[in-house]
Formats: sequence, C-alpha cells, structure tokens
Amino acid sequence: MADGSAAEDGNVADAVRAVESLDGAPIVVSNREPYSHGYDDDDGGITVDRPAGGLTAALDPVMQTVEGSWVAWGDGEADREASDDGVVSVPPDDPSYDLHRVWLTDEQLDGYYRGISNRTLWPLCHSDTARVHFSTDDWERYRTVNCEFASAVTAAADGTAPVVWFQDYHLALAPRVLRERLLPDAFAMHFWHLPWPSWDVFRVCPRAVAVLDGLLANDLLGFHTPDYCRQFLDCAERALDAAVDRENGIVRYRGGSTTVRPFRLGIDADAIRDRAETPAAADFWDEFRADHGIGEHTQVALGVDRLDYTKGIERRFDALERLWERSPEWRGRLTFVQKGAKSRSSIPAYSRLQGRITERIEAINERFGTEDWQPVVFTTAMLSEDDLAGLYRGADLMLITPVRDGMNLVAKEYVASQVDDPGVLVLSEFAGAAEELDEGAMIVNPYDVDAVADAVARGLRLPDAERAHRAATLDERVHENDVFAWITRQFRTARAVQQGKRYTATRGRQSQ
Ligand code: G6P
Repeated sequence: MADGSAAEDGNVADAVRAVESLDGAPIVVSNREPYSHGYDDDDGGITVDRPAGGLTAALDPVMQTVEGSWVAWGDGEADREASDDGVVSVPPDDPSYDLHRVWLTDEQLDGYYRGISNRTLWPLCHSDTARVHFSTDDWERYRTVNCEFASAVTAAADGTAPVVWFQDYHLALAPRVLRERLLPDAFAMHFWHLPWPSWDVFRVCPRAVAVLDGLLANDLLGFHTPDYCRQFLDCAERALDAAVDRENGIVRYRGGSTTVRPFRLGIDADAIRDRAETPAAADFWDEFRADHGIGEHTQVALGVDRLDYTKGIERRFDALERLWERSPEWRGRLTFVQKGAKSRSSIPAYSRLQGRITERIEAINERFGTEDWQPVVFTTAMLSEDDLAGLYRGADLMLITPVRDGMNLVAKEYVASQVDDPGVLVLSEFAGAAEELDEGAMIVNPYDVDAVADAVARGLRLPDAERAHRAATLDERVHENDVFAWITRQFRTARAVQQGKRYTATRGRQSQ
C-alpha cells in the first residue's frame, strides 16, 4: 500500500475493497488530471503539482492501492516533456498507477471545454437557460475530444475488459463511443457532478438526444440526489424511444440497460478535521485577522467559492448590504471574508462576473467602511489546504448561497473544520447538500435577500447550546457520508449490476 494514512483508515479500505470486487481493472476518466507537471520559476526544472483537495485528491489514494489507471487531459505546462508517449507513472516518488494524458489543441479546447462543457452543458444543467450558448463547430470538437478520451481508455485497457469510471459533463459522449466502437465488453459507469435539470429545461440543448444517448451507454449512471435521478429518467422517457422503469431506476435502450442511482458526494472529512486541528491552522487565522485589521469584538462570516455565476455571490452581497443598511449595530461588529478562486476566466460570462464582484466589494467598503473597520475582505490568493482549514475553523458563520449547485463540498469542508467553538452554516436550499444538511444548517432561499440577512444576524446570535447541537448533527452527517462512502456505495452497486448482467447473459446463452 502506497499511502500509509490510507491503510489506517477503514473507510478507504472499504472503498478499495469495493473497487477491487468488480471484474476488470478500474480506469478513471476525467477532464482534470490528478498530477500535473510544470516548470520551476527559479531553475526551470520540472515540478509536479499534486492534487490540492477536491475529488481528484480523494480518488488518488484509492487509485494508488488498486491496480488501475487514470485518463485525463494533460494541461500542465511541462506535461509533454514529462511523459513522451503521454503515459506517466504517479505519484512520481512512489509510482502506483499510470496516468494517460490526452493532448488537446487550442481549437479543441475551445470547442470542448470552453464551448460545449462550460457554455452549453454547465448553464443548462444549472437551469440557467438564458446563458446557454451553442455552436455546431463547438459540438463537433466536443464529439472529437470525447472520441479521443475513449481511444485513450482503450490504450490504457491494453486488451483487457476494464471497469471504466467516467466523471462529469465533459465526457457525455465517450461512453457510447467506447461501447459501440472500441470496447464493447467494458463495464462503464459515470458520475454526473452537476444537477440534472427538468425535461423542459434540458430540451433547450440542441443535442439533447445525443447527450442522453451517450450517457445511456453506461451500465451505471450516478447523480448526487434522487431528484436529479428522477429528472434524468423523465428526460430519457420524453426524448428517446426507451423503456424507463422508474421504480427500479433502470433505462432499457438500444439493446442495453443503464441503472440510474443517487450517490451523494462527500469529502475526506477525517483529513480535513485533522488539518483544522493543527496549530498551523489556528496560527493562520490569528495572522489573517491581524493582517486585515479584524478587531477582537468583530465576528466573521465567510464565503469560499469558485467565482462562478451559479454561486449566487452577487445576491449574497445584496443580503449583507441589506443587513448593514437596516441594522447599523452590525457595522463594525461583522466582517465578511470572501475567498474567491478565479475560474474559466476566458469565458465572457465569468470574466464579467469577476469584474463586477470586485467593483461591488469596493462600493460596499466605500459605503460602510470606517477607519477601523473594513466590511468585506476579499482575497483570491491561493491558500494551502492547512490555511484554508484555518479560515474555516475560525469563521463564526459560513454563508453558502448558490442559486443552483450539484452538491457544494465547501459546506461539508466547513462542517468538518469546526473543531472548537463551532460556527454556523447558512446554506441555500438549491445546493444538493441542503437535503443532507438541512437539520443542522440554517436553510435559506438565496433569492430572498431579507431572509438571508435575517439568517446571518440570527446565526451569529445563536445560543451556544443550539450552535453546538447543530454542529454535532452536521458533523455526523459529513463523516458518515464521506467521499470513501461515496466510492464504496457506487462500486457495491456496480458489482450488483455487473453480476446481474452476467447472470442474464448466461441464462440467455443457455436457452439458445
Ligand atoms: C465543478 C465540476 C468539475 C470541475 C470543477 C472546476 O466542480 O463539476 O468537473 O473540475 O467545477 O472547474 P474547472 O472548469 O476549473 O475544471
């Protein structure tokens, strides 16, 4: 076993066992890669970036212990130099599995990543139809790139019948290509990390049928919540000549069958709690407060987001502005810290949003700020995982207000970081996480600006006992449904599906 900490963690061990219980070596396929190579600023030597949190970081220890491989877009500056034939063994200091890189030209990237993935499917699945953009050239490139990913999977499989695990909306067409043209015997599973919208919304996509057709080449298809599954089944029924068994979550289509199931994505909760408990995390918080002149009697509410229009950041500022406007006692008593990560900035909707957020924060600080109090502290600095844990641990309240979000793992990371004097989670009802965290979090409708302002004020004044009770309820949920439980549940389901198919195939042969 390559990773010592993984060996000691029962949940990781369960996940590994579940993955290994399937027939076939696992191949993970995702747009983002778990390791990327770059050049050192000082001596120009090759450096390796390890996964910094998120799904790739959580899957990595599992992949290190099973004999599998990973296919992903090679986006690191030095990726080509580090892997001539596109294959590199990772982690570099203790190679455990092969990473197969897919090379994309700028033109391909434009159509596949910036075009169909992030200007068509992303807004569509977040039910933001006004932002959906589509071009046939982009579609052609998305299709071609999906074929390239499928070919890379075939190369990685090296003549075997693997278990292929596709991730997300970048790869909706790859399963069909794999099944029909390359590896008919592969077991294919796919997890869709976005919400799945209603048919009325999904039909806006000019290639709705092709997307469904691609996904229904999988044996198992996972979404975060039962609602997303139901909406997917609706779409399959309305758009295709498919037999949809709603009770059992099975779609029979083009001679195959796809099992559709909810699996809530979680985080590596133990690792995050451990980070939050370090003295380094506490030190970071003290320094952060001092650097930004946050006074001793000032409470801190926190937002941590990719700067994306689905995250409801501007409405969140409406609510904060409302609070400081109508309840002046909060001026000087509440500072809001917004940690933002710039994302997809080459897409106009994103660059415009990022500009507006900066202006908005300046205007709020101008309006309410005083000599010794800055209402909003904004940072886009890259924080280490330890520092981020310090921010989570220290903040009195976390404000998560997406207008639509598949799950929202930041909410769970905040919960896992409340190791002393727990803070309060205010969470949008439109985040997938709300279904699971509704008992401990204060749930809000992000469109109701007054209600969000009220929730912040109420949350910051919750009696200690209620705060502790809510935090304990949330913590239990987040640990119970961590990322390893997510993997375990999916692969256990996959095993049942694989065995069921084998049995049916054997019976079919016997009766011939
Ligand atoms: C969402 C998607 C991921 C994606 C991430 C960051 O969480 O579900 O697939 O990797 O956003 O976006 P980016 O475009 O930078 O990969």
